[in-house]
Amino acid sequence: MDAFMYRDGAMVAENVALERIAREVGTPAFVYSLAALRANYRAFATAAAALNAEVHYAVKANSNLAVIRAFGALGAGADIVSVGELRRALAAGIEARNIVFSGVGKKPAELREALQANVRQINVESRAELDMLDAVAGELGRTAEIAIRVNPDVDARTHAKITTGRKENKFGIDIDLARDAYGHAASKRHLRVVGIAMHIGSQILSLEPYRDSIRKLRGLISELRSDGHRIDRLDLGGGYGIVYRRDSNERPFAVADYMAMVRQETAGLGCALSFEPGRALVGNAGVLLGEVILVKPGAARTFVVVDAAMNDLIRPTLYEAWHDIVPVCEPPAGAITSTTDIVGPICESGDYLAKDRAMSPLAAGDLIAVKSAGAYSAVMASTYNTRPLAPEVLVDGERYEVIRPRQSLDELIGADRIPAWL
Ligand code: LLP
Repeated sequence: MDAFMYRDGAMVAENVALERIAREVGTPAFVYSLAALRANYRAFATAAAALNAEVHYAVKANSNLAVIRAFGALGAGADIVSVGELRRALAAGIEARNIVFSGVGKKPAELREALQANVRQINVESRAELDMLDAVAGELGRTAEIAIRVNPDVDARTHAKITTGRKENKFGIDIDLARDAYGHAASKRHLRVVGIAMHIGSQILSLEPYRDSIRKLRGLISELRSDGHRIDRLDLGGGYGIVYRRDSNERPFAVADYMAMVRQETAGLGCALSFEPGRALVGNAGVLLGEVILVKPGAARTFVVVDAAMNDLIRPTLYEAWHDIVPVCEPPAGAITSTTDIVGPICESGDYLAKDRAMSPLAAGDLIAVKSAGAYSAVMASTYNTRPLAPEVLVDGERYEVIRPRQSLDELIGADRIPAWL
C-alpha cells in the first residue's frame, strides 16, 4: 500500500497532512506510516505462514523502537547484527527466543551478551568465529545453537556495495569450505549445529539468484547430513527488492511468487524455514520531508537546495540510488517540468538527493517528500557538517507521534570533551 498520496492538492501520510508535520515538527523529518508498516508485514508474514516459516525482521533497516514494536506486536522476531540491535530488539519487546544474531564480525562481549540473553540462534560466518563462540559459550557453561552462514557464490545482480553472496564478498563461509567448517563446528563442545543460513544481498529484483542459491544449499545439506550433521533449520535471509522508481519498469517479484519458488525448491527437505526481510517491510512506509531553502539557476542546470542532505539520506550518494521526490503541494495537471538537481547544503558535490530530475517548479519554502525513505535512511544518518539527526515521526490514521525527537545542537556539540590540558 502507498500511505502517502495527494488529497485535496496536498500530500498526506494516512490522514495527516505532511504540511502539518513540517509545521509542528520542522524539517528535515522522517515520516512513517503505521498502516503501511503493518500491511507490508502482514503481506509477507501471511505468505510465510503458509510455509510454516518464521519472520525475523532485519532491524538494521529501521531500528526505531516503535517500528520494531509494531512488527513484534504482529508476531515478528528479529534479525540483529550487533549488541546494540540486540538491546533494541529486547527493549521493543521481541523475545530472545525469536532473535537471530547474524554478522561477519561479532566481538566476544557481544556473543556473551547474546548467549546470556538466550537468543534463538547465532549465524556464524567464519571458522575463527566458531572458535570464539565455543570459547565464550564454554566460559558461560552453555551450549550455543548455531547455523553456519554459507556463501553460495551466486550473483544477486544488485548494486556492488550491497551484494553479499559472491566469493569475493566478506560474508559467510565459502560453499566449497562449508563441509569442513561444519566438521570443525561439530568438534566443538559448546556448539550445537542446528541449521544453515544464507543472505545473498539486498534490493534483489529477480527470483533466479535465490533459486540458484537454494539449489546449491540443498546439495550441501544432503552432504552435511550424510556427514552426520543435524540441519533442521534453513534461514533464507532477506534482500527482497522494492520499487524506488515508480515511472520505470523496475518491478520486484511478488512475495507470492517468491514463496511459491521457495516451496518448490525446499519440498521434502525437512527444514524449518525462516526469513529476514528488512527493506521490504519498511522501505516504502516512510518519506523524508524537506523544505526548499533556495533555488539557484545555474548555467548548466537548476539547483534546488533543500534542508535535507546526504547526512540524512546517504543512499543516492553511496549507491547512486534513485528516490522519487515529489512536491508536498500537488502540482497542477500538466505542469511544466525542468531538469533539476535536488541538493543539500553540505559542502560536497556528492551531496545530492537527485540529479537531472524532471521537477515541476519549486520555490523557497516549498516542501518536498523524498519517497521510499523508510529503510536504510534514518539508520544511516550522520551529523556531518554538525547537522543534528533528523526526527522520526509515526503516523497512525489521524494521529501522529514523534518517535525520535530532533537531536538538539546542544546535545550534538555537548557530547564533545575538551581535555583539561588543552
Ligand atoms: N539479513 C542479513 C544477514 C543482512 O545482512 C541483511 C541486510 C538483511 C537480512 C536484510 O536485507 P533486506 O531485506 O533489507 O534487503 N544499506 C543498504 C542495504 C544494506 C543491506 C545489509 N544487509 C541500502 O541502503 O541499500
